Amino acid sequence: MASIQRAEGTFDLLPDEAKFWRKFRDTAFEVFGRYGYVPIETPIFEQTALFVRGIGEATDVVSKEMFTAISGENLNTLLGGGHLKAKSRLSLRPEGTAGVVRAVAQNGLVTQGGAPVKLAYAGPMFRAERPQKGRQRQFNQVGIECLGADEPTIDAEGIIMLMRFYEAIGIPAGAMRLLVNSMGCENCRPAYRDKVRAYILEHADALCEECQRRADTNPLRAFDCKKEGCREVMAGAPRIVEHLCDDCHVHYDAVKGLLDGADVAYVEDYTLVRGLDYYTRTVFEVQVIEGMGSQNAIGGGGRYDKLMAEIGGANTPGFGFALGYERCLLALQAHGFEFEPAVKYDFYIACVDDSVRPLAFTVAQKLRDAGMQGDIDHQHRSLKGQFKQADKLSADYVLILGPDEVAQGVVKVRNMASHNEVLVPLGEADRIVSSFTDSTAARAAGATS
Ligand code: HAM
Repeated sequence: MASIQRAEGTFDLLPDEAKFWRKFRDTAFEVFGRYGYVPIETPIFEQTALFVRGIGEATDVVSKEMFTAISGENLNTLLGGGHLKAKSRLSLRPEGTAGVVRAVAQNGLVTQGGAPVKLAYAGPMFRAERPQKGRQRQFNQVGIECLGADEPTIDAEGIIMLMRFYEAIGIPAGAMRLLVNSMGCENCRPAYRDKVRAYILEHADALCEECQRRADTNPLRAFDCKKEGCREVMAGAPRIVEHLCDDCHVHYDAVKGLLDGADVAYVEDYTLVRGLDYYTRTVFEVQVIEGMGSQNAIGGGGRYDKLMAEIGGANTPGFGFALGYERCLLALQAHGFEFEPAVKYDFYIACVDDSVRPLAFTVAQKLRDAGMQGDIDHQHRSLKGQFKQADKLSADYVLILGPDEVAQGVVKVRNMASHNEVLVPLGEADRIVSSFTDSTAARAAGATS
């Protein structure tokens, strides 16, 4: 029988990588925490309507890429010819913003006159895209959302914080490019959208079918077409920056001014429109300059002042971004990054014969209770086999326990790097632990002297 493989576009994070994913998240939460962002966890599936209304029906994400979740109960209803009620239509989250904004609205987290709510999250997102390097069907994002403030300082500090995170995790500043743009607001964008629509219709002959269709559904998305011909045509299209209202201009200039003041380099890109419909004003994306082909966006986001109202909450401005863990990892690996091994033991207890195993078990337990990481042999290996195992597990110390040691009431502690051995009284876990630390200190002193 053929063995069952993982689903297309999904990946297993094996221990070395799973450990790094934790470190990646911890680093993000630590950096974002300095700016006041605190964790939130929202469900992995939501009512489909949240994404349709929040992200936009005409976006690729919603119209083509959602995984719709069907419970056994709902499947039976459908198979029986029945219809699902709106609230039974569920989808796996393709992104985190809509769910977080729903949670903020539903739980009343933004209070009148209160400080903006700053939230950070990390976890899997699901999009049924065609898998390729850097594009998965289940991928991990780390993101932030700030609700309740429309000041440009929120946008600028968010962008700076994201760039600081990339550097903290090890992506060199010179390897990235930050693109910024403004999408305008409900006052200036409709007129601009009409101009782009008219431009597309005027140049329809030179544009692909999808871009022609976009004239009706979502004209600004034509800026995002990857086809060379369409790009050339769209390069001559009206530019949003020339059609912003005064308020949007002031906001955009303020964001850029704050980035300049913080020495964060950026490129203004009037074709940056992003693939989700909720954006207003600031949008931005961070790309890796070399080596990642078309999947080079390692993060992006922007302002969405109408999203909360769109999904039925109070009119509340918002700003946020998300970054893709897997793409960041590709960027790191392009710069020589390697995982640290997940297994790195402090100690391994080698038993000379079976008579000492129960005692070895007890000693191991005491050491773990004292905070050390380690193990004993669980497979009746020979002494030689146990040393091999200790090596494989990168144990710093091997404790050798045999009938002679037990008779003397001691255990032999061997430093695997220096091969030094000391005898430590059995049953005094703290002394065994301090023999580790002494040797570690001695080793460190040796290394520095
Ligand atoms: P997004 O640009 O769709 O924005 O996704 C953010 C990041 O997730 C991308 O820059 C990329 O690194 C990663 N990503 C997206 N799709 C995939 C995929 N199929 N495979 C691997 N990585 C992927 C959002 O999701 C918005 N919610 C960001 C945001 C938050 N805007 C405001 N607040």
